[in-house]
Order: sequence, then C-alpha cells, then structure tokens
Amino acid sequence: MKIVKTSDSRISSIDFSNLPFGRIFSDHMLECHYKDEEWLEPIIKPYGPISMYPGTQVLHYGQSIFEGMKVFKNRDNELLFFRPKENFKRLNRSAIRLSIPEIPEEIFFNGMKELLRLDHVWCKAEDGYSLYVRPFIYSSSEWIKASAGDEFTFMIITTPTINYYTGAIDLVIEQNFSRATRGGVGHIKAAGNYAASFYPTKIANSKGFTQVIWTDSKEHKYIEESGTMNIWFRIGDKLITPSLSDSILGGVTRDSILELAIDEGIEVEERDISVSEIVEASNNNLLLEAFGTGTAVSVVAVQSITLNNDKMFIPQQLNPYSMLLKKRLQDIQYGRVDDNFNWTIKI
Ligand SMILES: Cc1ncc(COP(=O)(O)O)c(C=O)c1O
Repeated sequence: MKIVKTSDSRISSIDFSNLPFGRIFSDHMLECHYKDEEWLEPIIKPYGPISMYPGTQVLHYGQSIFEGMKVFKNRDNELLFFRPKENFKRLNRSAIRLSIPEIPEEIFFNGMKELLRLDHVWCKAEDGYSLYVRPFIYSSSEWIKASAGDEFTFMIITTPTINYYTGAIDLVIEQNFSRATRGGVGHIKAAGNYAASFYPTKIANSKGFTQVIWTDSKEHKYIEESGTMNIWFRIGDKLITPSLSDSILGGVTRDSILELAIDEGIEVEERDISVSEIVEASNNNLLLEAFGTGTAVSVVAVQSITLNNDKMFIPQQLNPYSMLLKKRLQDIQYGRVDDNFNWTIKI
C-alpha cells in the first residue's frame, strides 16, 4: 500500500470541545480503485478533494454504499476498534445488493489499520470521545447508462466525535412517508435510503421532534426503527425490539445491546411491535422506557413519542435499562472492563 503523509497536519486548529458531528475530518484518507474486474492497490494520502467527471455514474443513479463504525481510546492510549468485522460483512452485503464488487478483507482491514495508525491522535483518550470511521464505495464509471457501473472507488475517511445527542429525545410516529419497503434496500446502507429520509425528517424537525419513528410501508401499523437508530421499548420488565426484516437495518449496536441485555438477565423479545401496542402500554402506564441505539448515538433515551397530535410521555426511571446497557457497552468500548464478548480489536 502506498502512503503519502501530510506535511501540514490540521489538528492544532481543531477545537475538540466543540465538534459538530461529521464536519471535521482527520488528516488522511484511503482511496482504492476497481478497474478491469479487480481492486487495485490502495493509497493513503492527505484528506482532500476528489475529482470526477459530470457523467460519473454515482451522481446520476446513486450506486453508493457506506458504513459507520467507531474506534475508542483506552486509558493506556491504545486504539480499540469496536466490532469492525460486523461492519465489513455488512458493507459487503450492501455491495452485493447494489451490484457493487465486494471489497476484499485485506484491503479493508490493512487499509483501516494503517489509516488509524497515522491519524490516531485525532481520537481523544477521554470519555465521550471517539473517532467515527466512514468507509464507502461508489460507482466511479463515467457512464450515464442506467445500469451498474464497471469502475468503483472505495474510500475511508475518519472524523473525531463526541456524543451525538446529549439529552433524551422526542420522536414522532411517521404514518405517511416510508423509509424502506419489503424487497427494497432498507436492510443495507445504500446512500439513497438516507437521501429519501431527509424530507420527512425535516418536516418532523420543524414541528419540534428530534426524529421520526418509521413504520411499515404497507399499513404504517408496525414500528421499524427511528432515524438512523434501532428502537427499543420496555413494557413492564420486558425489553422489546422489532425483529429484523429487509426493511430494517440490522445495527451492530442493536446486536450488542441484545447480547448485553440477555447477559444481564433481562427478558428480551425480538418481534413485531404495533403502534397500537405502544399506545395501549402507555395508556396502562406499562411503557416504562423507550430508547434508540446506533453507532453515532450509542444508546439514547426517548422522553416522548407522538402519534398524530397525541404525545405519550415516557416516565423517567430510577435505574433505567438504557443507562445500564449503555454503561456496559461503553465500558467495553473504552476498555474499562474485560471484553468477554471479544468485540474489540486493539490496533
Ligand atoms: C437506518 C439505520 N438504522 C440503524 C442504525 C444503527 O446501526 P449501527 O448500530 O450498526 O450503527 C443505523 C446506523 O448505521 C442506520 O443508518
């Protein structure tokens, strides 16, 4: 792998006490091209603009996929990568579904490791900080025929982050627009899924909601997920999350919380959850918690859910499951406890 180091690091100009999510990028990036049916040698070089012709396929048909993952620093200043193999597998599942050639394991992992070694100072060894890693692949064929490209670009960029949402959030159940449909691409990280979610989210934001709760596209009766988070409800002492389907993204955080909850002895159910079940549980004072999980947010508590014009308030618990599970997750991510699940990889 070719490595061109920057001679002019930008890190001293960054205010780490004020990091808007995803706006500040570390010094280097990885770039790797696919041509004549093979992935070529990757290069790591200073973060900077990429050039493309106006006829490049991705600009017209959105043949583009991505991943989102995090590395954390432990107290010994070592980088701990959280479950990157899961993201690697999901990236290649996304690739297959969007007719993009799969990225070989050694390009993904060797490239990632070199990049993180070079830019490790961008990851602060303090609570709440992490380095968000964004691998992505897009069709770089200069070709506006509406079919899969034959040239692709794989890139990795990284951005330093602090926790995404700081307080509990307010959600609204979306009953008009859909994020994903059966047989579609909601279960993978296709760039277009996100583009299509911005308009409904903007409307929800303008009404004071943090995010929407997506429901099934056919009847808007069943809850799927919320924004870019998987969603969880505590009804009585049971923890319930929608079972995965091809219209729900299987989150790495979701999978981790599931294992941690089981390990804690909490009764967990993965099953269909209807909107009316949530309303009924709330009316009967049995909806004790709701929370979202995802790489960017970790675990975030929900304080209200609105259906049409009715707001259901979720009472604050003394010892909420969300806090317990978030602490257990973050203790592993920051290397504060033994990683009995073998989730972290030291770099
Ligand atoms: C639509 C959607 N759902 C759920 C998640 C949570 O997934 P993960 O825990 O892997 O970040 C994400 C974020 O990647 C997402 O984009």
